[in-house]
Amino acid sequence: MTRLARKEDSEVVRGLEGVVAAETDISFVDGVNGKLYYKGYNIHDIAGHTSCFAEVAYLLLVGKLPTEAELEEFRRRIISEMRIPAQVVKMIEILPPSSHPMDILRTSVSALAHFDPEYGDNSPEGSFGKGIRLIAQIPQLVTVIYRIRRNKSILSPDPNLNMAANILYMLHGTMPAELHVRAMDMLLVLHADHGLNASTFAARVTASTWSDIHSAVITAIGTLKGPLHGGANERVMNMLKNIKNIDEVEEYINSMLAQGERVMGFGHRIYKKEDPRTRHLRALSRALCAERENGKLYEISHRIENYVLKAKGIYPNVDFYSATVQHALGIPEDYYTAMFAASRIPGWVAHVLEQNKDNRLIRPTSQYIGEYDKHFIPIGERTTTSAVSSEPPSAFNRTGE
Ligand code: COA
Repeated sequence: MTRLARKEDSEVVRGLEGVVAAETDISFVDGVNGKLYYKGYNIHDIAGHTSCFAEVAYLLLVGKLPTEAELEEFRRRIISEMRIPAQVVKMIEILPPSSHPMDILRTSVSALAHFDPEYGDNSPEGSFGKGIRLIAQIPQLVTVIYRIRRNKSILSPDPNLNMAANILYMLHGTMPAELHVRAMDMLLVLHADHGLNASTFAARVTASTWSDIHSAVITAIGTLKGPLHGGANERVMNMLKNIKNIDEVEEYINSMLAQGERVMGFGHRIYKKEDPRTRHLRALSRALCAERENGKLYEISHRIENYVLKAKGIYPNVDFYSATVQHALGIPEDYYTAMFAASRIPGWVAHVLEQNKDNRLIRPTSQYIGEYDKHFIPIGERTTTSAVSSEPPSAFNRTGE
C-alpha cells in the first residue's frame, strides 16, 4: 500500500524548543544572559540575602517577600503539616527493597492524596491548602523513605528548626553543622523553580484538565525522574565514582563522547551561558568537599567542567555540582533526585495554582505521518502474515529524546 505521508501546514517543533506555551510571573530563565529570576528577584540576590527556603517558598506562592512575622507563621505552618499518615508509612514499608526512592516517592505522594483533609476539594482554597501540605510533606517523605529502608525509626520535625536543618536532622538523626544547614538551604532555594522546565510543564498539562494538585505533582515527579531532567544528578555521582584519579578525567570524557554518550550534568535547552545557579553550587561543593576526602571529588568535578567546556563548548547545569553537595551532606546518590523534588515542590505548586487561575486546556497537535483509508479486513479473513510485527522496535531512540 502506498504511504500517504501528508505534510500539514505547520512544522513540527521537535522537543517544543522555543515554543511559548504559557504566561507566568513566577520565574524567568534568561538563557541568553545567563540569568534567573524568582518573582522578579535575581537568583544571586536571593542566594545572597534569603534567610531560608521557607522565605523563597512563600515568595513563589504568595508573590511577595514575607515580613518576619509572616515568615515565622508560614514556617510554623509548614513544620506542623509535615506529618505523614501512618497508612502511608505502612505502604512504604511493604514496597519491594529493590524499588528506587524516586519511584517510592511518586507512589507515596499518590497515597498521600487519599488522606489529605481537603481530598476532593479542588477549589482555590482547597488546592492552596493541599499545596502547602505537599511542600511540607514531600521533604519529610524523602527522610521517611530513607529511614524505613535502613530500619531506622522515623523522626518528627523539630519545630524550632528551619526546613533545611529539619531535613538533615530527620535524615541522619543528629543535629547538622551550620555549614551543612546553609548548604542544604541553598540547594533547596536554587532548585525551587525554573521556568517552564519539563516537570513543571507536565504538572501544568495535568492541571489544565481540571485534575487535582496531587495528580499534577505526581505527573511532575514522574517527569523529573528521567536522566535528561532531574535524574541527571544521580548519574553525575556514578560518573565521579568511576573516575578514580584526577588524571583520568580527559580520557574518561573522551571515551564517553567518542561513544556518543552524554556527560550528565552538562548542557541546557535554555542557557547559552553558564547556569547562574552553578556559581553557588560550585562554591558550596568546594567548601564541603574540602571537609571530606581532601577535596578530591571537587577537584575531579572542576577538571571535568573545564574539559567538557573545552571539548564540547557546554557548561554544567544545576545537577552537576548538586551531586557533590548532596554527597558531602551524607545523602546517598539514589536520593538525589528525590531531594530535587523536595526542593522543586514550591515551584510546582505555584505553577499549578497559576494554571488554575487562568486555565485553558493544554492540548497541542501532532503531524500525522501514517496512512489513510486502509482496507479493513475482518478478523476471520486475515492471513497469518502481517506487515506489522508484534515485536518491539529493536532499539529505542534514547539520544534524540
Ligand atoms: N553531553 C554531550 N553532548 C551533549 C550534551 C551532554 N550533556 N548536551 C547536549 N549535547 C549535544 C548533543 O549531543 C547535541 O549534539 P549534536 O547537535 O552534535 O547532535 C547538541 O549538544 C544539542 O543537544 P540537544 O539534545 O539537541 O539539546 P537539548 O536542548 O534537547 O537538550 C539536555 C538539553 C539537558 C537534555 C542535554 O543537554 C542533555 O542531555 N544533558 C545531559 C543530561 C542533563 O544533565 N540533564 C539535566 C538538565 S538540567
